[in-house]
Amino acid sequence: MKAIGFNRFSYFQTLSNLPDKIHSVQKPKKGFGQCGFVVISAYKSAQRKNKDYRKFRQYERIRLLFKRYGYDMDAAREKVLARAGAITEPVLDVGTGPGRMTYALAKSGFRLTTVDIAKGPQRVARIYARRFKVLNRVKFLKMDAGRLKFRNNSFATVIAANLLHDVHSPKLAVKEMLRVARPKAKIIISDLNKKGRALVDKVYRINNEIHRGKLINLGRIVSEVFRNSAVKVRKYDDNFITTYVIIKKSHGKRN
Ligand SMILES: C[S@@+](CC[C@H](N)C(=O)[O-])C[C@H]1O[C@@H](n2cnc3c(N)ncnc32)[C@H](O)[C@@H]1O
Repeated sequence: MKAIGFNRFSYFQTLSNLPDKIHSVQKPKKGFGQCGFVVISAYKSAQRKNKDYRKFRQYERIRLLFKRYGYDMDAAREKVLARAGAITEPVLDVGTGPGRMTYALAKSGFRLTTVDIAKGPQRVARIYARRFKVLNRVKFLKMDAGRLKFRNNSFATVIAANLLHDVHSPKLAVKEMLRVARPKAKIIISDLNKKGRALVDKVYRINNEIHRGKLINLGRIVSEVFRNSAVKVRKYDDNFITTYVIIKKSHGKRN
């Protein structure tokens, strides 16, 4: 952009912060320089980008803090994937959050769709994915885990890492995961166990914060939802995380 056109305003400072994208362009109003409104709109976008990076740095601080206490979030996601065994596309990751499972999958070479009810965490997940050069493998959608907008039997792998303690109705979210999973699909559900939960509470307390996630009985949720729908349920207890790997029944059997 050239300074020409900014006939009444000097927005050089703002221009130096311009983001790569200008989201909206409004018509200049009477009395304003040609591009006055363009700059205002872009400035807002730059502010949001700064906010996303602030949030990203916050997530990084949390990651490093947990690592210091022995919980390596990235290693934990890798462990979940190792427990899951072979993974087949199409893959759905429910509850993007900052994207630790998303980028773990994408770094392993998978293309996937990931959904979250909030856009903020997904913007952080995008930053991680861009840093790991896997952004092109991920489709981000804003969606409620309790009301997935996918047809029945859409995915060969459906995964939720550390989501269930965060959702309003964990059972409903798991039912939806089952619905969108194909016959013989793999459904992978992992969440903090007692030890993980205690550590999260401790670290948040040290940080003068309160962890808003609720206590859930993952085992009970899994057994209630999959009572008639799974051919195989395997449970793995790792250091801070419990993982269930479930194979959905094939067609012809009661679901
Ligand atoms: C702890 S994070 C998930 C962590 C992520 N899977 C990872 O591996 O980094 C939990 C996320 O669940 C999202 N969430 C909460 N309720 C939800 C819902 N009903 N549907 C979809 N996402 C939801 C929150 O916005 C938050 O980003």
